Amino acid sequence: MHTALIALLLAWLGLALADTDAGPDQPAVTLKDVPASAISSGVLNKTVVFGYTYETGVGVNQIAWNTLTHLVIAFFDTDSAGNIVTKSDSIPTLVAAARKTGVRVLASVGGDGGGSQSLAMALSTAKSRTNLAASLAGVVKSYGLDGVDYDFEFPGNMDQLGYLHDGLSMMRATLDATFGKGARLLTTTLYSTNGLFGPQLQAVDAKPFSDLVDYGLLMSYDYFGGFSKVSGPNAPFNDIPGFKGLSFTSSIASWVSAGWSPAKLVAGLPYYGRSTLVSVSQTPKDQFMPSSGNGAPGPVSNIPGAWTWYDLRDPKRGALASPTVARSGWQRFWDSTTMTPWLLNNVTQTYIGYDDPLSLTTKTNYVLTSGLAGAMVWMAQYDYNGELGAVLNSFRTTASNLAQEALDEEESSSAESESSDESSSESSGSGDASGSSHASHGASESSLHGVDSDSSGNNILPAPLSGLLLPALAAAVLAALG
Ligand SMILES: *[C@@H]1O[C@H](CO)[C@@H](O)[C@H](O)[C@H]1NC(C)=O
Ligand SMILES: *[C@@H]1O[C@H](CO)[C@@H](O)[C@H](O)[C@H]1NC(C)=O
Repeated sequence: MHTALIALLLAWLGLALADTDAGPDQPAVTLKDVPASAISSGVLNKTVVFGYTYETGVGVNQIAWNTLTHLVIAFFDTDSAGNIVTKSDSIPTLVAAARKTGVRVLASVGGDGGGSQSLAMALSTAKSRTNLAASLAGVVKSYGLDGVDYDFEFPGNMDQLGYLHDGLSMMRATLDATFGKGARLLTTTLYSTNGLFGPQLQAVDAKPFSDLVDYGLLMSYDYFGGFSKVSGPNAPFNDIPGFKGLSFTSSIASWVSAGWSPAKLVAGLPYYGRSTLVSVSQTPKDQFMPSSGNGAPGPVSNIPGAWTWYDLRDPKRGALASPTVARSGWQRFWDSTTMTPWLLNNVTQTYIGYDDPLSLTTKTNYVLTSGLAGAMVWMAQYDYNGELGAVLNSFRTTASNLAQEALDEEESSSAESESSDESSSESSGSGDASGSSHASHGASESSLHGVDSDSSGNNILPAPLSGLLLPALAAAVLAALG
């Protein structure tokens, strides 16, 4: 009798725990989680947040300037001879707004599709590379920009990779000669997976590229989508069994092991998810379902196969009533391997794998504990009510608090060593965290990705209530035992 009651209570307790688990608790990053190199090299002091936006059609009011350190305007078109042909009246307005907020602005050349095809042509001869660099320096000068971003998607062979290297080298030399050494920034985008410069390229030494630029902007998203055979997250945090190398953490590790300097690596975060058409009758056991292409586009943006955060959160046609609660017609789940939420509409057979404040926090914490330079978002204007920008703000605040803490520790330990006669060089201990940095990453490799939500996608208990009810239940269990 008692046993049955306890089992019932425990089952209910277990259920309540799962149901209120909209996502993981986010353990705060402490100084001992941060690699010593990130403290000594100063990346903590100057953590960056890059945000991409379009050169046209985005008003200054759509950009949350306080969440960014750098705005990257995408994309400037080049002709095959290396002359930049894009002109836009909206650029001076963006630049003026950026100036007021201290955000630095870069011009990006290339992009996917046609943009990179003409960039490939412009990079392919010494003459056109020189032209391109001069033309971009002209753009920087005429709009009063802070730098240039090369977004070549993607070098298809070793010749093209060599041209990219030579193009970056020429761009760096031209910027330095025109504006003064190091006075303007140069960045390049990096392909998401495997530390490769493009899907068709064998691994190469990334260091010569890393040496040329200020930052590499890693496109750590688009891992799964309407183009995949199965539905899956746009940006999984950890590798999914059977899909080795396709994750945020794997991509970062591969670029670093290919020779990219962590202090110059900026991890990409998507402010959007991807929708796929799936075929499902029952509540699926996980988010990996046979897919037959793009699902419905986001209702506001109407981008094929994609839902921006403002699509997901649209009060009328969105899929989320709050950042973690599905609207009717949708079920929301959390996957504890990929550390991302996903949505299912079993009427329209639509799956959406996306990022939310919880999954982004997991990723920005990882950026801190890996000693990377910062984060990049695609795209800055996809936020809703500043919900995702708040994560980036808290990321930067944490970084600067930790930098201050490191400084305080350093000062107090050097004060100690000065006041002591036997001060040794060991005592400068500004938190030697080398080796400890990766131990604390939340997601356990062995956890199964599964369904952590109730079937309605809504939490049975509001979070604050569960805090009161669970102790009450525990008391009931104890009472039953007694
Ligand atoms: C379909 O989704 C609704 C929520 O929109 C849910 O209540 C229902 O249980 C789901 N049906 C199945 C078979 O999973
Ligand atoms: C960054 O902060 C650390 C300590 O917090 C300090 O030792 C270092 O000089 C700073 N570096 C830069 C570049 O500001």
